[in-house]
Amino acid sequence: MHAINTLLSRPRRFASRRLVYLIFGLGLFAFAFFVLSPQEPVIAPADSPTGATPPKHESKHIVGEISDTLSKSILNPFREPAHAPSRQKQDTYKGTSWWADWKWLSVPFSSSVTFDEERALLPPLRERTPIYCYYDSTIKKPREEKDAESDLLRTWRRAWWAHGFRPVILSASEAISNPKYNELHRMDVDPDLKIDLMKWFAWESMGAGLLANYALVPMAPSDDPLLTFLRKGEYPSLTRWKGLDSGLLAGQDVEVNKVLRALLDSSSLTTAKSVIEIVGKEAFDIDKTPTSLAFYTPEAIKKGYSEVAGIFASSRAKGLSSLNKLINAHLHMVWQGRFPDGIEVLQPLPDHTTFMVEPALKLANSLGYCPENPIPYSCPPNVYRCKHCTAGSTSMKISTPSEYRNTSRVFSLGTVPHPWTVASLDNLEENIDVSWIVRKSSRDPWLEALTQKLLGSHVSGNLRVMRFKQAVADDHASTNALWVTAEREISMDLDWHFGFAIPHPEPKKTGEDAKEEKSKEKAIKDDSSRNAKREALAVKEASKPDLVPEEYVELVEEPVALTPEETKAKERSLLDEAKRIVNIPKLTRETKVRASLEAWNLADTEAWKFTRAYMARRLMERVEWEKEEAKYVGGAGSDKGRSAWSRWRDQKEQAS
Ligand SMILES: *[C@@H]1O[C@H](CO)[C@@H](O)[C@H](O)[C@H]1NC(C)=O
Repeated sequence: MHAINTLLSRPRRFASRRLVYLIFGLGLFAFAFFVLSPQEPVIAPADSPTGATPPKHESKHIVGEISDTLSKSILNPFREPAHAPSRQKQDTYKGTSWWADWKWLSVPFSSSVTFDEERALLPPLRERTPIYCYYDSTIKKPREEKDAESDLLRTWRRAWWAHGFRPVILSASEAISNPKYNELHRMDVDPDLKIDLMKWFAWESMGAGLLANYALVPMAPSDDPLLTFLRKGEYPSLTRWKGLDSGLLAGQDVEVNKVLRALLDSSSLTTAKSVIEIVGKEAFDIDKTPTSLAFYTPEAIKKGYSEVAGIFASSRAKGLSSLNKLINAHLHMVWQGRFPDGIEVLQPLPDHTTFMVEPALKLANSLGYCPENPIPYSCPPNVYRCKHCTAGSTSMKISTPSEYRNTSRVFSLGTVPHPWTVASLDNLEENIDVSWIVRKSSRDPWLEALTQKLLGSHVSGNLRVMRFKQAVADDHASTNALWVTAEREISMDLDWHFGFAIPHPEPKKTGEDAKEEKSKEKAIKDDSSRNAKREALAVKEASKPDLVPEEYVELVEEPVALTPEETKAKERSLLDEAKRIVNIPKLTRETKVRASLEAWNLADTEAWKFTRAYMARRLMERVEWEKEEAKYVGGAGSDKGRSAWSRWRDQKEQAS
C-alpha cells in the first residue's frame, strides 16, 4: 500500500510542479497583457505629461495615446524639455500642490486640466469678507487682564473665521492714521466719546465694511440668511441692528465719512458720550434683532449669567476668563445642536480599517463631548431654549457607517486612504507588486463602498469622483463634513475650522496603562501561540515519519489562520508601512509600484489627492493669515497669545 502510494505520488508531484510553472507562465502572460494592452493603460508612468489616463470606459483611441505617452514620458531620453505648466500664487503647501479653477466640478480628473499628476484641481478659494473689531492695546491695565482679553479676542476671531469671515483686530494705530484724528486731537471731548470715535476712525481708515464688538459672535447654522448677507461684503446703507446697540455696524466708507464729517462739525460734540447719540437714528437703517448673533454685553451678563458677573465683581481678569469659557461652551453647544443624528465616522471596507479611522473617531468623541462650562445649564443670549449637556458626558450619537449619506442631520467625518493603504489593509497584504495588483486587487474599492448608498452600484468611477468632490468641498459640505487623509496626522487648526476650542477629554491614565500592559501581555501570548503552532507542526511532522510528499506540501502551504490579536497587530504594522510608502517623496522602486496602484485605482487616487490638496490649502490659508495677524495689536488674540515684547512692556509699566 505504501509502495503504491509512493509510486503514485511521484508523478503527481511532478504534475503539481508543472502546474506551478504553468500558473506562473500564465501570470506572466496576464501581466504582460495588462501592461501592454491598449485597453488598460495601467502601468503608464505616473508622471507622464498626458497624465490623466482617461478612464477605461472612454478609451477607444488609446493605442496611439500609449505610444504617445511613452514618447512624451520623462523616461524617454530624447524628449525635449518642456515649460512647466503655469502656476498660481500660493499653490503649494508642504509638498502638496493644487490649481484653483471654476472647472473643478466639470472634469472628474484633475490632471486633464492641470497637466500634472500631482496637482489637484480645487474650487477657487472663497474670498473672506473682513470683519473688524476695535481693541486698544495701549491702555494701561494689569497684565493678567490683558492676557484674558487676548484669549477672548481669540475666541471672537475663531468664531468668525469658522463662518467664512476674515476677522481683524484694529487698534489705535489705524485710528491715528486717519487724517480726522488730528482734528479730534485739538478738541476737548468726553473720554467715552473719544474711545468711541477712535473706533470709528479706525473703521473708516480700513475703508469701512463690518465693525463688531468683540463680545459679539455668530451662533447659527452657516446658511443663516443674515450671515450669508454679511459674507457678501456689500452693504448698501449704513446699518445697525435692533437690540445690538453698536455691537454690529455695516456700511461703506463714503457714508461713514459723511457721518464723521457731520459729527466733527456738530455743536454737541463736547457734551455727547457716543457717536450714535450725536448722529441720531436717521443716519442708520435699523434692522430687526438678529437671532444668529450672540452679544455678551455687561448688561446681558448681569441679567443672564450672574455667576460670571459675580466673578467679574471680584476680579476683572478672572471674570473675562470665565466669560471666555462660557462663550466657548455656548459656541460648541450650538454646533452640537445642529446635528440631531450625531456624527458619522465613515468607515467603508470596515474589516481591517479600525486603526485607520481611529484618529477620526477620537476627534468625533471630542466634538461630541460636553464642553467645560462655568454655568452648565445656561443658554446663549440669542437662544431661548437649548439642549443641556452635562460636563464630562457625551451629548452626540457617534456611529461608524460604511456609506456616506447626504443629510444635514449628521456631521460626516471621513478618512480618505491612499489606494496603497486600501490594498494592503483590506487584503492584509504585505507584498504588493504589479502582478499582485493586476491579478488580485479590485478597482476603486473604497470609493465604490463609500458611495454605495448615494449612487447605487451601477455608475461609473467618474460620477463617483464628482459626487465625492462635492461631498468634500461644495457649500453644503464645508459645514456638514470634514475629510482628512489617512496617512498624515489630522492637522491642528481644527479649532478654527469648527469655531471653538475642541475639548480634549483627559485620557484616563489608568486605562492607558492597563492598555499598555495588555498589549505587552498580548505580545507574549502571540509569541507563545505562534510557538505552539510551530510546535504542533513539528510534532505532526515527527509523528509521521513516512509522510507522503504532497501532504507535506499541503501542510506547509496551508495559511495559518490569524487570531484576532494577530490580525490587529498585522493591521497596525500594515498601516504604518502604508504611511511610510505613501509619504515617500522621491522616485524609488516602491513609488513605482505605488504609481501602478494609483493608475489601477484612478478614482480612489483622485479622491485621495483632492482631499489632500483641499486640506493642505485650508491649513495654509490659516497659517499664513495667523502669521500675518500676529504682527498687529501686540499679538493680542493670536494663537500664541500676546507677544513677549508687549507683555514685558506691561510689566515695566506696572512696576513703575
Ligand atoms: C447634498 O445635499 C445638498 C443640499 O441638499 C447639495 O447642495 C449637495 O450638493 C449634496 N451633496 C452631494 C455630495 O450630493
